[in-house]
Amino acid sequence: MPTPQKIRKAVFPAAGMGTRFLPATKATPKEMLCLVDKPLIQYGVEEAVAAGCTEIIIVTGRGKTTMEDHFDRSPELEASLAAKNKTALLEIARSVSRLAKVVTVRQPEPLGLGHAVLMAKELVGNEPFCVLLPDDIVDASIPCMKQMVEAFHEVQSSILASEVVEGPAISAYGCLDCSPHPGNPRLHAVRDLVEKPKFEDAPSPNAIIGRYILTPRIFEMIEGITPGAGGELQLTDAIKALLQHEKVFGFSYQGKRHDAGDKQGFLRATVELALKHPDLGPGFRNWLQEQTF
Ligand code: UTP
Repeated sequence: MPTPQKIRKAVFPAAGMGTRFLPATKATPKEMLCLVDKPLIQYGVEEAVAAGCTEIIIVTGRGKTTMEDHFDRSPELEASLAAKNKTALLEIARSVSRLAKVVTVRQPEPLGLGHAVLMAKELVGNEPFCVLLPDDIVDASIPCMKQMVEAFHEVQSSILASEVVEGPAISAYGCLDCSPHPGNPRLHAVRDLVEKPKFEDAPSPNAIIGRYILTPRIFEMIEGITPGAGGELQLTDAIKALLQHEKVFGFSYQGKRHDAGDKQGFLRATVELALKHPDLGPGFRNWLQEQTF
């Protein structure tokens, strides 16, 4: 039996244009938009680290260098805080750069999510890895990717996080054609994937969200597909191709996802996460309750 493989690396595709969030994203990367008190991408990086990842690979593009700076040391800021004895703030600034080893790779043009993942091929190498879309924020008592890594240890196959989306809203998602996996009610054996189906054609209400664990064969699959919807290399097309070679599982994670790449989703996430914030939450709740709107 082959040695079970560990998940050590997490890929963050972050080279998209963020058009749904214009004008905020005209010169600022969507992934650096601040949700309560930290940028979107930091939530994902913390989740990956909590899942045991030690290497973070950010796929960036033009105008996205602030992400590298965010996870790097900031000697001037640290020196200034240290000189003023602002130790708590100094610790906050330092802890971000200590989270994990962060490396970046460029996607020269935003040619799709599949293409973005392919850019990480050399850095990932021949091992299973996770992919986190930084604009999907998952609020969960056990971090979503940690739940997935545990499930991966059970099946040693690619796993796609999914959630139940009732009604016509399913048409906005990749949808799983799947059946229950004996022994673990959260896992579903995937037969097929249908990208953005009409409600009446959806094979199940299980929609794919922005958390994946993929085996390295996915790179070969991405290299073999042709541009799909929108002229982009679609990750779902590559996962469909992977199904011809390997098992793939859906995973019903426990938690609540916010689509923070969308203005409404971002506002809701802001309110919910602000209310839960240990320092800001109580004051914010009091203020909200006083409002008459
Ligand atoms: P999205 O479709 O949500 O991001 O892709 P987008 O294209 O930036 O946003 P809109 O739709 O124009 O508002 C999910 C993630 O994949 C990355 C994005 O940066 C985002 O984090 N992505 C997407 C890439 O890295 N490269 C691409 O070619 C496409």
